Amino acid sequence: MKPGLGRQLQGRRILITGGGTGIGAATARACAAAGMQVMLSGRRLAPLEKVVSEIRTSGGEASMRVGDVVAPGASEQLIDAMGEDFGGIDAVFANAGYGIEKPVLDATPEEIRRIFDVNLVAAIDLMRATGLRLREENRPGHLLGCASILGKFTMPGYGLYSSTKAALTHVCRSMRCELYDDGIAVSSVHPVTTRTEFFEVAQKESGAGHGPVVKDGVPTHAPRIFVQSADVVARAVVKCLRRPRAEVWTSSVGRLSAGIFELVPPVYEAMLRSEMRRKRREAGSGR
Ligand SMILES: NC(=O)c1ccc[n+]([C@@H]2O[C@H](COP(=O)([O-])OP(=O)(O)OC[C@H]3O[C@@H](n4cnc5c(N)ncnc54)[C@H](OP(=O)(O)O)[C@@H]3O)[C@@H](O)[C@H]2O)c1
Repeated sequence: MKPGLGRQLQGRRILITGGGTGIGAATARACAAAGMQVMLSGRRLAPLEKVVSEIRTSGGEASMRVGDVVAPGASEQLIDAMGEDFGGIDAVFANAGYGIEKPVLDATPEEIRRIFDVNLVAAIDLMRATGLRLREENRPGHLLGCASILGKFTMPGYGLYSSTKAALTHVCRSMRCELYDDGIAVSSVHPVTTRTEFFEVAQKESGAGHGPVVKDGVPTHAPRIFVQSADVVARAVVKCLRRPRAEVWTSSVGRLSAGIFELVPPVYEAMLRSEMRRKRREAGSGR
């Protein structure tokens, strides 16, 4: 039998970190609309309350927990909370994360550690803890990690962010094989530029003199063909929950570019160097 939840999602229970905004919130709404019981987590109460209330008003089932994914014991506490509110867990979407845009030489050791802790270590910890619980209970399930198109290639300023997402992609790939015979599906999600709070947060997290230039919620460097809404990602995640896939892509152009970049690194790196020079000229450094 193939791993995963099967096509019928009614009554299945999913935990979504970073569920108060953006991709997490859209996925929470889409999962609830498909009949799933949804728990959201995040550090801010207000966005979580808003999404939970919207879902309940539309007749869906949702609850929430406030907390930081890197707090000690966070994953076990969230899984226990799923037991308290819904009697257990069937799926998890490790989605909480953020970006920074700054050259590696300008990043502090604390910034490096923190982005890996939030985007990678916490996501692995949550998928691992959920996988252990499912296996203990001998039940099928689905673990999803939010990677990115930038988990497949990178750009100047995105070395740290991309490497958290590339590592998460590999962890998902490995877990997918390790858990196949337990009936547990594992997928990585690879959004392209998505209109969410992400780029405003990236501006703040990158610090003065760094960060993306943001216009209408998206960075000016992003080709328009890559810009999408969070609902597009949410629909693709629900489709994947019904019929598990290794990787969730929402842009065939993005997927094709990632493949070409991997096949011909010199062409791609020449493009990146020219982009880096353009940025330097813009910044007026003249280097
Ligand atoms: N937007 C894009 O273009 C894009 C593209 C590819 C991949 N992604 C990935 O998609 C995921 C969701 O991002 P988004 O675009 O939806 O941006 P977003 O709206 O900023 O969502 C990020 C969510 O993560 C939560 N979060 C961040 N740090 C956390 C922490 N330490 N503990 C608990 N929750 C935390 C935030 O809530 P609180 O601040 O309340 O904690 C927020 O709800 C991220 O993993 C991101 O890397 C985004």
